[in-house]
Amino acid sequence: MKRFTPFFVMSLVIILLAGLLASCRGPEGPQGPPGTSTVVNLEGFAPGINCGSCHNPDQDTVYYVWAKKYQWERSKHAWGGDYERNSSSCAGCHTTEGFVKRMQGKPVTNQVDSSPPGCFACHSPHARGDFSLRNASPVTIRSQIVGVPDAQFNYGKGNLCVQCHMTRDFTPRPDPTKTAATDSIVITTSRWYAHYGVQGQMLMGEGGFKFPGYMYTGNSVHTTLPAIKQEGCITCHMATPTAGSGIAGGHTMNLRYEFQGTARSLLNGCNQSGCHSNLTTLDYKGVQSAVNANFDTLKTLLIQRGWIDGNPSSSNYGLVRLTGGRLVIKPAIKAGALYNYFFVEHDRSEGVHNPKYALELLRSSIEELRKP
Ligand code: HEC
Ligand code: HEC
Ligand code: HEC
Ligand code: HEC
Ligand code: HEC
Repeated sequence: MKRFTPFFVMSLVIILLAGLLASCRGPEGPQGPPGTSTVVNLEGFAPGINCGSCHNPDQDTVYYVWAKKYQWERSKHAWGGDYERNSSSCAGCHTTEGFVKRMQGKPVTNQVDSSPPGCFACHSPHARGDFSLRNASPVTIRSQIVGVPDAQFNYGKGNLCVQCHMTRDFTPRPDPTKTAATDSIVITTSRWYAHYGVQGQMLMGEGGFKFPGYMYTGNSVHTTLPAIKQEGCITCHMATPTAGSGIAGGHTMNLRYEFQGTARSLLNGCNQSGCHSNLTTLDYKGVQSAVNANFDTLKTLLIQRGWIDGNPSSSNYGLVRLTGGRLVIKPAIKAGALYNYFFVEHDRSEGVHNPKYALELLRSSIEELRKP
């Protein structure tokens, strides 16, 4: 319960405010000098906006702001807790304040007073007077593999998600041309990966490490299906649930959820027209099971080689194992298997985003590690 407390405090404030503001109109054009607005944001109010159209649940039958707040409260955006990652290098994705600055093209600074990705990150309701998306332009996702170009992510509204759900640079980068027995890569960080937001790349079928000589056959239909091309992540994660079946999708962005003590999955996104017709599980055709089985095999091989820490009681568990501060891999190309391991793990869809691509990355990595 502890983690919800701030939200309820906020709700109380709003209840009070809503009462006060229900009939009040926005100040006429107070966009003026920054600092004149004493309320919450950096961007001012659109001239003449009607506060009550969003702040009074009585009047609000357009946006259902209150409903969205309760949905958001159930999202990991709200409760994940990682908004404490608020230094200048993290705040641009982990805090609303830093993200707003980043989207405004301003430098992101340390953000001690931080809040998690919330309404004002993805929207700018006061300055715009509506809930249009703050930024839905295509996103360049920086490649983390030597010789592979950056990817252009362009999936409609889903572009907003990928402003944060994208890679972070790390070194040294894996290199598919380093195949000689003498080629070595020296890893000195236990977090040798491109951070956690690889979902955009996985969906497009980019960003995985491809071993020359292995036959990769492309992507699953998700990559190009019109319904997904148009809205990207939103197609599935923000689908509308069925009345009476619990709160999922929407601003919870959850596909697995609990309803009255029972585990459930939201399949309405999957079963829309043009997609599946009668899919009954997220583990459709056993994709998640197959990906998890291959993932476990790869994990075992990596542990056997001593490249990741397989000791569950170690604080380094599951991360790169450094001996004397380093891990040396020869030939360097084999590090691609380690890279793919984290890539699939951090995607977290257990293959669903792009089954064919995820499986082949895992299988080729396994094959590579089984070679002497
Ligand atoms: C287009 C919708 C919209 C309009 C119009 C709007 N707001 Fe908001 N406002 C929001 C949302 C969404 C939030 C964040 C969620 C919440 O706290 O309800 C918010 C938050 C606030 C907060 C911060 C509450 C807190 O506890 O942090 C204040 C204060 C506020 N609005 C005042 C106003 C005033 C005054 C007006 C009219 C000039 C106004 N709002 C008009 C959508 C709107
Ligand atoms: C402002 C940056 C930002 C944007 C924009 C953003 N996210 Fe997130 N997302 C995060 C962060 C940060 C987390 C992890 C939160 C934490 O751990 O505190 C997260 C977590 C999630 C999770 C939960 C992951 C898990 O491990 O359970 C889902 C699902 C998700 N985001 C989907 C989306 C979708 C879909 C969109 C677009 C509609 C989106 N996100 C837009 C930053 C963002
Ligand atoms: C480019 C955007 C971006 C930047 C910059 C960023 N992160 Fe993240 N981070 C994310 C997203 C998105 C997630 C959530 C992904 C998910 O849950 O699937 C995340 C997740 C995390 C998690 C949670 C992992 C977990 O297993 O729950 C930690 C911890 C974290 N980041 C730390 C940091 C730190 C520390 C920094 C700064 C040094 C940082 N991040 C910078 C986007 C970013
Ligand atoms: C992580 C990003 C993200 C966050 C945080 C977020 N939204 Fe949204 N919101 C979206 C996206 C994406 C859509 C478009 C969904 C669609 O088209 O189905 C949307 C749509 C909406 C809509 C419908 C807009 C319309 O014109 O029909 C409303 C209202 C809304 N959001 C309110 C909120 C409120 C209130 C909050 C805070 C409690 C919030 N959002 C937080 C991403 C976000
Ligand atoms: C085809 C539907 C679909 C699309 C499109 C999609 N996802 Fe997913 N996503 C899923 C499924 C299914 C899962 C697995 C959920 C599970 O098994 O718990 C998942 C899992 C996730 C998770 C981990 C959530 C968790 O609870 O562990 C994140 C984060 C995520 N997706 C983000 C995104 C982002 C960002 C995009 C857009 C780049 C995206 N997804 C596009 C269906 C989709």
